[in-house]
Amino acid sequence: MQRPIVAIDGLGVYLPAAVVTNHDFETRLETSDQWIVERTGIRERRWASADETVATMARGAAEQAMSRAGITAQQLDAIIVATATPDRLLPSTACYLQALLGADRAAAFDLSAACSGFIYGLTVAEGMISAGQAAHVLVVGGEKLTNITDMTDRATAILFGDGVGAVVVSKARGNRGILSTFIKSDGRLAPLLNIPGGGVIDPISEKVVRERSHYMKMAGREVFKHAVLTMAEACDEALRRAGIEAKDIDLLVPHQANIRIIDATARHAGIPEEKVVVTVDRYGNTSAASIPMALADAEQSGRLTPGKVVLLVAFGAGFTWGSAVIRW
Ligand code: ACO
Repeated sequence: MQRPIVAIDGLGVYLPAAVVTNHDFETRLETSDQWIVERTGIRERRWASADETVATMARGAAEQAMSRAGITAQQLDAIIVATATPDRLLPSTACYLQALLGADRAAAFDLSAACSGFIYGLTVAEGMISAGQAAHVLVVGGEKLTNITDMTDRATAILFGDGVGAVVVSKARGNRGILSTFIKSDGRLAPLLNIPGGGVIDPISEKVVRERSHYMKMAGREVFKHAVLTMAEACDEALRRAGIEAKDIDLLVPHQANIRIIDATARHAGIPEEKVVVTVDRYGNTSAASIPMALADAEQSGRLTPGKVVLLVAFGAGFTWGSAVIRW
């Protein structure tokens, strides 16, 4: 294994308080707890309140991450917010967060790579630090997916939740840090998972609202197929680039979309169940927030400790996919 140049120094999470169970959907949609658990592994998810935004939730996660990294907001050189649910289309959510944190020296920008956003963000932060352009970068994966979910569509309403995870990325000291990253995309698959209305192609209008095309549309079965393929490629590539094998991995932290995709990914990589972090049962799919939320969950339960070798892997709308190997 090579010596890492860049490391994650602090991790933080923000969980909205409201828990919505599968049973809560049974009263408003034609669905059942049994169907949702069997097909997705999801039992409950968190929903943000009306006054919680990605930036306000990110503030909580970011302050925790900075405190644990032992740095102040003034020491941040850049803030990257990976999100598919920006507070506004203009300006970036990262700028709102920069103001909330008082990060006076920091550049701030959003990153749009859907569920792969956190790994894309880590990769950008690694590049900035390696190039000497930054010493400390805050990478946030944050979503309020309930705002872009059609709650009358049973095929998507049950899948998504809200939340934020954040990390401080800094120069590595010693042998802890990022051992490899890999990111890739295929825009030909965009029609399988998108928000058709409300953007430049079909600006917000009465028609868009009537047709509910400002909400996420997904061809679930097709997305599932590509997810399994891309997650497999991403696992292989991160291991190859790090120069290690599956047996060297202590913990697999996959994007939390569906337990069946997680199981297929672990099987492909040859990583046993006891090394796989699963939060999809409690948080649902939180897109860009899912991996940092799962890392925080693993840390809190004592499974993620210094020195552990962790494989992160994600796929999302775009399509985008990516992976990373980190010595924690
Ligand atoms: N309750 C009960 N029945 C349902 C529900 C529901 N909530 N949703 C769909 N069904 C029905 C369908 O209508 C269909 O009925 P039919 O056979 O009479 O037509 C049947 O269940 C099977 O539907 P499928 O879509 O084939 O079900 P599948 O087993 O594929 O599971 C699911 C659907 C869970 C969406 C799955 O395809 C999946 O997880 N896909 C991947 C989604 C994903 O990972 N997205 C992540 C990207 S998110 C991002 O980037 C922001």
